[in-house]
Amino acid sequence: MTFRCVVATANADKEAEITAILSERGDVELIERPKDVGEVEETGDTLLENARLKAMALTEATREISVADDTGLEVRALDGRPGVLSARYAGDGATYADNVDKLLGELGGSTDRSARFTAAAYASFPDGTEVHALGEVTGTIATEARGDGGFGYDPVFIPDEGDGRTFAEMSADEKHAISHRGRAFRALADRLVEIGALEA
Ligand code: IMP
Repeated sequence: MTFRCVVATANADKEAEITAILSERGDVELIERPKDVGEVEETGDTLLENARLKAMALTEATREISVADDTGLEVRALDGRPGVLSARYAGDGATYADNVDKLLGELGGSTDRSARFTAAAYASFPDGTEVHALGEVTGTIATEARGDGGFGYDPVFIPDEGDGRTFAEMSADEKHAISHRGRAFRALADRLVEIGALEA
């Protein structure tokens, strides 16, 4: 049985990554996200709530199985900021570079640069079934941006399990083998296999 789903993101890189990870566990067919379904406001207090809001809204609009994610970067010396506000850290309409600049500015010369990415992955079904999973990766914030790959805070995130390179200096496969999103969606795929929605 093929797992047919629509992915709740306008970010093509994220969509490709999510499909690739789920496809490792079973047959997946992507349904195109209707262009007239707008972005959902991320009004939840947690990553899981926001991922759920995005998935449920898309299921309601399409009556299809919907898959969504929400990601946050927590920096210890900043009391967990930017956290759930990661996308809008430097204000509404902030670019990735604006957010990175704000983060480096706030951290200044702090010697404690430890940080953690967490991703929530959510699948909602038209029959009301909901499945979710979390994934995380710990690391440190670099003192300056390095690398051209990835997106968001990747140029300043050095994963503990790596060799000192930032996520933006790694290939997509290297990043996703250890990334928060890779882990969250592999765990989500396991849940989907358990309930029989995804199979090889
Ligand atoms: P979202 O709400 O899941 O789209 O993610 C919130 C923000 O976190 C995005 O605007 C990015 O800046 C950042 N982000 C999400 N995933 C990643 C990642 O894999 N690497 C670096 N930054 C990310």
